[in-house]
Amino acid sequence: MRFKDKIVLVVGGNSGIGLASAQAFAAEGATVRISGRDQATIDAAVAGIAGARGYRADIADLDAMEAVIGDIAAQDGRIDTLFVNAGVGGFAPFRDLTPDDWDHVHGVNLRGCVFAIQKAFRLMGRGGSVVATGSIGGHAFVPGNTAYAAAKGGLYAALKVIAGELVGEGIRVNLVSPGPIETPLLHRNPGMSEADVEAMREAMIAAVPMQRMGRAEEVARAVLFLASEEASFITAANLFVDGGTLELG
Ligand SMILES: NC(=O)c1ccc[n+]([C@@H]2O[C@H](COP(=O)([O-])OP(=O)(O)OC[C@H]3O[C@@H](n4cnc5c(N)ncnc54)[C@H](OP(=O)(O)O)[C@@H]3O)[C@@H](O)[C@H]2O)c1
Repeated sequence: MRFKDKIVLVVGGNSGIGLASAQAFAAEGATVRISGRDQATIDAAVAGIAGARGYRADIADLDAMEAVIGDIAAQDGRIDTLFVNAGVGGFAPFRDLTPDDWDHVHGVNLRGCVFAIQKAFRLMGRGGSVVATGSIGGHAFVPGNTAYAAAKGGLYAALKVIAGELVGEGIRVNLVSPGPIETPLLHRNPGMSEADVEAMREAMIAAVPMQRMGRAEEVARAVLFLASEEASFITAANLFVDGGTLELG
């Protein structure tokens, strides 16, 4: 029960890694708040977590996120842990990359995440923690990944500065960087058939020393560790949950 009496906001908490984390936080006593874009999966997530509340808000829309944080301020009075997990993929060979592709990925994965932290940390006191979701894609060569790699690598760079600026306020800020994880994200690539997805999955597994995809629950365990008092002397860390892919691949 590491999160008993804690208010935890999971941005992007209605699917995949975020949903598994929201459920794990709740299982350890947290009062969970979830945001995402898709009302049906927000409703399903909230229905499955006692005492949870959900918000429909696009993280790229800073006013919408302001409204979420404002409502939590009014109703709960504080945030103890923020898990900023919202993210989109978007493969495009560099020669075909458009400014719109770039802006879409960066609006969510970098700009949206940074400003969500800026809005939320003001509701945190000493002992507060922020965890964000990076990716090994921010550190490794993956073909077609220019925009995503820059956004996730940029998030890592930004978090170091944010962690340094907030350390004096007693707020820890860390990144969890997954490798290939079996989540709905795999199926969100426009124009990819199920056969394409299967080929991509096989290629990803071949690159993982542990020779399998990770599970959302395995990432959630790392998120909860970094968010918890167990990690009380850890800030500005980047924890890879990737079956050894980055270091051994
Ligand atoms: N799966 C992997 O292999 C992998 C590897 C490395 C890093 N990651 C990162 O892990 C994080 C979670 O991804 P996942 O694999 O769990 O995929 P997922 O199941 O597709 O979950 C993505 C989450 O982000 C939310 N989201 C996306 N765009 C949003 C927006 N504009 N505003 C608000 N919420 C938004 C989604 O909500 P809606 O469903 O409502 O859009 C969903 O809750 C992402 O940051 C991703 O980049 C994943």
